[in-house]
Amino acid sequence: MSDIETLRRKAREHIELGPITDTYGADRDRVISVLNEVLATELVCVLRYKRHYYMAEGLNSGPVAQEFLQHATEEQGHADMVATRIVQLQGEPDFNPATLVERSHAEYAPGKDLIDMIKEDLVAERVAISSYQEIIRWLGTNDSTSRRMIEDILAVEEEHADDLLNLLKEVGQPC
Ligand SMILES: [Fe+2]
Ligand SMILES: [Fe+2]
Repeated sequence: MSDIETLRRKAREHIELGPITDTYGADRDRVISVLNEVLATELVCVLRYKRHYYMAEGLNSGPVAQEFLQHATEEQGHADMVATRIVQLQGEPDFNPATLVERSHAEYAPGKDLIDMIKEDLVAERVAISSYQEIIRWLGTNDSTSRRMIEDILAVEEEHADDLLNLLKEVGQPC
C-alpha cells in the first residue's frame, strides 16, 4: 500500500487521464484493442439477429422472431456498454463498418431457414461465451471494472445460448 502523501501526489499527476491512475494494472492499449474486438462482436451479433428477426417474421414464427428481436436489443446494449468503457479508458470505439466482420469473434451467418438461423445464433453465442471467458481470466484484477462488465455480458450470452437451445428443442430439432 502506498503512503497517503504518495497517493495524493500521484493523483495530481496526469489529471488529463481522468479515471486512469498510476495504479491501473492492465496494458491499457491492449485492453482497448480487445474491447474493440468485443464491440465488433456485439455489433455483428446485432446485425445477424436483426436479419434473423425480419426473416423469421416472414416464416410465420412469432415467438422465435420475438426472441431474435430481444437478443438484438440486448446485444446493442452490450455494444453501448463496451463503447462507454473504451471511452473511459481514453480510447476510441471503432465503429468502422469496413472492418467489422474481421474484428468480430462471432461470424455473420445469414442463415438458410429458421432452424439454420437458430443454430448459427447458438454457435455465435458459444463463440462469444468462450472468448469472454478468456478475456475475464486475462483481465483478472488488473482492470476490475472492465472484467465485471464482461462478466455481466457473459451471463446474458449464456442466457441467450440457453434460450436458443430451448428453441431448437421446441422445434424438435436434435443438435
Ligand atoms: Fe452480447
Ligand atoms: Fe448474445
